[in-house]
Amino acid sequence: MMVSKRTALVTGASRGIGLAVARRLAAEGFALTLAARRPESLHEAAEELRALGADVTAVPADVSDEAQVEALAGEHLRRHDALDVLALCAGTGSAGVLEDFPVRRWDRQFAVNVRSAFLLVQRLLPALRTAAAAAVAGLSDDHARTATVAGRSDDQAGAAVVAGRRREGP
Ligand SMILES: NC(=O)c1ccc[n+]([C@@H]2O[C@H](COP(=O)([O-])OP(=O)(O)OC[C@H]3O[C@@H](n4cnc5c(N)ncnc54)[C@H](OP(=O)(O)O)[C@@H]3O)[C@@H](O)[C@H]2O)c1
Repeated sequence: MMVSKRTALVTGASRGIGLAVARRLAAEGFALTLAARRPESLHEAAEELRALGADVTAVPADVSDEAQVEALAGEHLRRHDALDVLALCAGTGSAGVLEDFPVRRWDRQFAVNVRSAFLLVQRLLPALRTAAAAAVAGLSDDHARTATVAGRSDDQAGAAVVAGRRREGP
């Protein structure tokens, strides 16, 4: 019986936690779709994993942009027609005090860290539901659990939303 390759889509895969996750999934034999905004570092990460024998597609995309999320998901499904793991590692952080924190920065951070997770899960849910054991993993931050009144109020809301939303399974 032919067993088809498991596939994963990893956002924020050009460096940091996302790249570490992609390396691990590649080592476990997953075919990968990698996303991040900057093409150079993304393609560099993809080349590194291909050199280890992984089947990798690199799709430059800003996950805060709905059209780019649609194109990213579409490209994964065009190549693989299934999805086993969605690793939501794209993220941005900036610290500040609540009273002075610019709302535009907060909106941007929420769009990248939280709204993008909604968009990707919504778009890819049908594919995840067809997998035998699908997983969706989102990154959060300790700030989700350790709210402070005086400072670092910037990313607590987003981290709490993502932490509360995490769940495994189709
Ligand atoms: N590192 C830690 O110890 C730690 C601890 C707790 C939580 N976190 C959270 O985990 C997340 C990732 O952390 P990290 O240390 O891996 O960060 P990082 O090294 O800065 O990597 C962020 C990744 O996300 C991508 N990215 C950023 N904005 C994006 C966007 N709008 N669309 C698509 N890709 C985007 C970046 O590539 P481009 O810039 O090319 O897009 C990069 O690949 C962050 O939200 C961070 O707050 C990190």
